[in-house]
Amino acid sequence: MKLTDEEQGMIEGKHGKAVAMAMSILTKLGQIYGAAEMIPISQVHIDSSAYKTIGEAGLEFVEKLADSGARFRVPATLNPTSRDIKRWQEFRIPADFAEKSQRLEQAYLRMGGIPTWTCAPYLYGVIPHFGQQIVWAESNAITFVNSVIGARTARYGDFADICAAITGRAPKFSLHLTQNRAGEILLKLQDSSLINWGEDSIYPLIGYIAGAAAQGRIPVIDGIPNNVTSDQLKGLCAAAASSGAVALLHILGVTPEAATYQDAFQGKEPLQIITIGDEELLKARQDLTTAAEGKVDLVVTGCPHASFSEVEHLVQVLAGRRVCREVEFWVQTNRTVYHWLEQTDLLGLLNFSGIKVITDTCIFSWPLDNWDFQLLVTNSAKFAHYAPSMLRTQVVFGNLEKCVAAAVKGEVRRT
Ligand code: F3S
Repeated sequence: MKLTDEEQGMIEGKHGKAVAMAMSILTKLGQIYGAAEMIPISQVHIDSSAYKTIGEAGLEFVEKLADSGARFRVPATLNPTSRDIKRWQEFRIPADFAEKSQRLEQAYLRMGGIPTWTCAPYLYGVIPHFGQQIVWAESNAITFVNSVIGARTARYGDFADICAAITGRAPKFSLHLTQNRAGEILLKLQDSSLINWGEDSIYPLIGYIAGAAAQGRIPVIDGIPNNVTSDQLKGLCAAAASSGAVALLHILGVTPEAATYQDAFQGKEPLQIITIGDEELLKARQDLTTAAEGKVDLVVTGCPHASFSEVEHLVQVLAGRRVCREVEFWVQTNRTVYHWLEQTDLLGLLNFSGIKVITDTCIFSWPLDNWDFQLLVTNSAKFAHYAPSMLRTQVVFGNLEKCVAAAVKGEVRRT
């Protein structure tokens, strides 16, 4: 790879051992993918922030970096940690686990990490602009930032994100390059009795179908109204990233690189055209549901982390009803939204209804051995996709109204 004098100096150790190691890892990554050079990047979102995911070896690695005096060269936001930082005891997190999570959090903060602890840094964080070269990890955030904002990141994994933050560089490859961002397959939405564009749960279903169809290609979706909201796109992108590891998709007339069909495909023809109608939507809903009915013990919303508007909507749907005693209803969000909720009557209303607002974390990164959940209901396709394997529970995917009804009654019925 062709390196600048400064980058060569980094490898040679002129900026310290941590920078040398990070640059050496990134150049190896670049060589594997045929990158000709490095590019300066202006910010990083670090995914390796949950102790449960990166484990003991990961904690040791991050602490060693921090102990060696490594500092982030660019703003680096942080994905969820493995505990609600203030109320972890309430959620039965063991003390030794919480202590290790705290050590990991502190190591990142010592290096200059920004304590966002959220998987939706595009809502309230250090938000890049169109075309900006960045390094983001966390699958839903990668898809959102590439597709909705039009900033450019490849699909980075754990530890490559830290190396990028320490060096301020990334290999010039993958979605950093214009020619690799062209749409490749077309998904056309047909008239369907199941589509109500005001209904949020339709967007994750479409994203889920797009992800499953993508098979490593970049989908272009035709037919989504241009008044789609950021929250709806959040659900769509997260679902596509779950079912098919999609890092970029285009929505015709909505996303920045897809103002027109020609723009989306960069003048080429799609490799495949797929239609989405009743059959595909029903199948996606079925694929995300493993139980038709039964007693519910957990309801989860806020995957990815809920925005203020989504929490407000939840309070409207609740309309003062209380959650059944046997049910835990958890809303995942970040601390910014929580502060806003505290300043309104919304937090009080949620507490009155028996709903717990969790911050800083994602329950997939918790040890849940102290709970015995059997059946959960969620309005997130991503959560429904991973819950059976990660939490070993049955799952029902439904809209927010279904989540609330299940929480209030303590059961779901076949519909
Ligand atoms: Fe975020 Fe966890 Fe969902 S990291 S996207 S809440 S699986």
